[in-house]
Amino acid sequence: MSQSVRVEKLSFHYNNDTRWILKNVSFEICEGDVVGIVGPSGVGKSTLCYCLKGIIPDVIPGNLVGNVWIDNINTRQVSAGKIAEHIGIVFQDPESQIVGLTVEEELAFGPENMEEDPAEILSRMPVLLDLVGLGTFRRQETYKLSGGQKQRLAIASALMMHPKILILDEPTSELDPVGREEVYQAVRNLKEKGVTIILVDHHIEEMLDVVDRLLVFEDGMLVEDSKPRDFFQRDLTGKYTWLRRPQVVQVGSMLHSAGVAKGFMNPLEEEFIEELREILASGNAPDSVAAGGER
Ligand SMILES: Nc1ncnc2c1ncn2[C@@H]1O[C@H](COP(=O)(O)OP(=O)(O)OP(=O)(O)O)[C@@H](O)[C@H]1O
Ligand SMILES: [Mg+2]
Repeated sequence: MSQSVRVEKLSFHYNNDTRWILKNVSFEICEGDVVGIVGPSGVGKSTLCYCLKGIIPDVIPGNLVGNVWIDNINTRQVSAGKIAEHIGIVFQDPESQIVGLTVEEELAFGPENMEEDPAEILSRMPVLLDLVGLGTFRRQETYKLSGGQKQRLAIASALMMHPKILILDEPTSELDPVGREEVYQAVRNLKEKGVTIILVDHHIEEMLDVVDRLLVFEDGMLVEDSKPRDFFQRDLTGKYTWLRRPQVVQVGSMLHSAGVAKGFMNPLEEEFIEELREILASGNAPDSVAAGGER
């Protein structure tokens, strides 16, 4: 697979603050990968997204050391507008990103500004709306959409510009569980289509079954780059206390401490259930577990 993103020894501080927000960060992302980014609030996740999108250093000034390549283009050498053809971004606030009065107007806005062929713009709309589960909303007024629908429209809007890479910076943090699941379904659809996705989210539970890799940040540094399964199948006691463990992981670690599960259980829900079935079938589970838990 060819490389979509390459970050090499990236450090950054904003102009009005000498504190280094990102410190010597290096990683690569291949085409079609879905990569989750997690870290405590204020660690620099959004700042990293701005660096990937080329907004830093082109629009937001500061001191950038190291290099970022998007589709083999060094972000230092081109404008953020040029990088926008390669990488789209959706932010957390559904209200602030929609400019069109109707869904159709919203989708047309970016490509019309780029003076794209109107017939080509129109032909892309139904495809992208289907992909994000808004196939029947094409003529809907945008103010009538729910938060989750607005976020999915923002995703479709970003994709109208043909980027191969999409950044989602906490796309579900202002949504209820239904809206969140709808956005995640859209992300799964995009993954199937081979879109490279960088997903920042505090909801690691939903993230787990969609991301191929987890990048973990602490104190501006990339401290882990691992498969989600490897990340959770070990003793995390005292580590990453800012990270809310998925329920499956919490139950798995209780079963491990109780000696019911021999190793750390698989954090992915379906595989966890399969492992649990095997434990129950093996007859190793204490009576209380086999009976469905103590009352
Ligand atoms: N334009 C700016 N100028 C100066 N400092 C900034 C600017 N934007 C962000 N910061 C600071 O940079 C640090 C990292 O912020 P950033 O928004 O990247 O963190 P984050 O990990 O995305 O946090 P959250 O999880 O809350 O979204 C914070 O201390 C923030 O106050
Ligand atoms: Mg942020």
